[in-house]
Amino acid sequence: MDIEFVRSRFIKHFDGSTGSVYASPGRINLIGEHTDYNGGFVFPGAIDKGMVAELKINGTNKVRAYSIDLKDYVEFGLNEEDAPRTSWARYIFGVCREIIKRGGKIAGFNTAFAGDVPLGAGMSSSAALESTYAYALNDMFNCGIDKFELAKIGQATEHNYCGVNCGIMDQFASVFGKAEHLIRLDCRSLEYQYFPFNPQGYRLVLLDSVIKHELASSAYNDRRKSCENVVAAIQKRHPHVEFLRDANMAMLDEVKAEISAEDYMRAEYVIGEVQRVLDVCDALKCGDYETVGQKMYETHHGMSKLYEVSCEELDFLNDIAKECGVTGSRVMGGGFGGCTINLVKDELYDAFIEKAKVEYKKKYGRLPKVYDVVISDGARKLC
Ligand code: GLA
Repeated sequence: MDIEFVRSRFIKHFDGSTGSVYASPGRINLIGEHTDYNGGFVFPGAIDKGMVAELKINGTNKVRAYSIDLKDYVEFGLNEEDAPRTSWARYIFGVCREIIKRGGKIAGFNTAFAGDVPLGAGMSSSAALESTYAYALNDMFNCGIDKFELAKIGQATEHNYCGVNCGIMDQFASVFGKAEHLIRLDCRSLEYQYFPFNPQGYRLVLLDSVIKHELASSAYNDRRKSCENVVAAIQKRHPHVEFLRDANMAMLDEVKAEISAEDYMRAEYVIGEVQRVLDVCDALKCGDYETVGQKMYETHHGMSKLYEVSCEELDFLNDIAKECGVTGSRVMGGGFGGCTINLVKDELYDAFIEKAKVEYKKKYGRLPKVYDVVISDGARKLC
């Protein structure tokens, strides 16, 4: 993302002066999907696509915000009743409110922002936006908020202003990202560890189905509810089970008659997925990419058949990966559309991408988008 581009629009849109420029990335996740709000592990990394925003304190109590990509301008105050209706502006407003709730003293500012992380593609464009503003406002107004709390501010924005009961993974990755490293996060203890990720002979590539599912947020919240239902049932017998992360298949089977078949399947997926993240970390430590890839396929199967967050187009892309001998492939992020993430040997890359494009076009009448993954740094000030 080009700083000069954002700056030129900021100057044009506001009074000609410049402010400070900040950026935060989107993320990929190698494995560990829908585990974060279950207290489990995730394994994300920040990418080289994200949001860039310029901000300048304007001496009023109003935020004047301009979305460069949407060519849309919104002005709002900083009190709870000033919440804007426009959905993109609610992310910025939410971040402001969550900072204020934590005692941060912020005031009005002018801002313009733009992004190159595709929207609704499962790469966390919204977390990139939240982290950009959380990081920027904390820095500009010297709020003294630590990095974990910045991530939590983004997450609380989703919960309280955008209607998505998400976990912490996306905002964590956007704030804590480090070039060439994936991060294994324990979403209960919040302990994390950087893993160098530069697989020799393999590439990570995303194939975007270009499907955006409208009902994604309610379907997502519904999955979370299922997990909570199952925990409540298991807890009656095993009070120490706080999250599905603490449960195992034997415990799940004990409550099978008390929960719906749907909740059972969903919990079965999560219990398997928590373990798969640990298996992948072990495999990575010894450079065993075949096992990493196999676990990715298992995740896809679980997300498609048990958790039911895939869709026909993503299953199709996954099947093509399998046919081409791609090492690992699966739907990435919340699901219901968006991308598959693929771990592919260098020598298979061209043939795989070509076949995916041709077959997808033949079947769905449009091309999937292709994004090569570059693991990059997290939230930062650019100038
Ligand atoms: C979305 C949420 C995350 C996480 C993933 C699924 O990206 O924002 O918190 O739950 O889905 O792993």
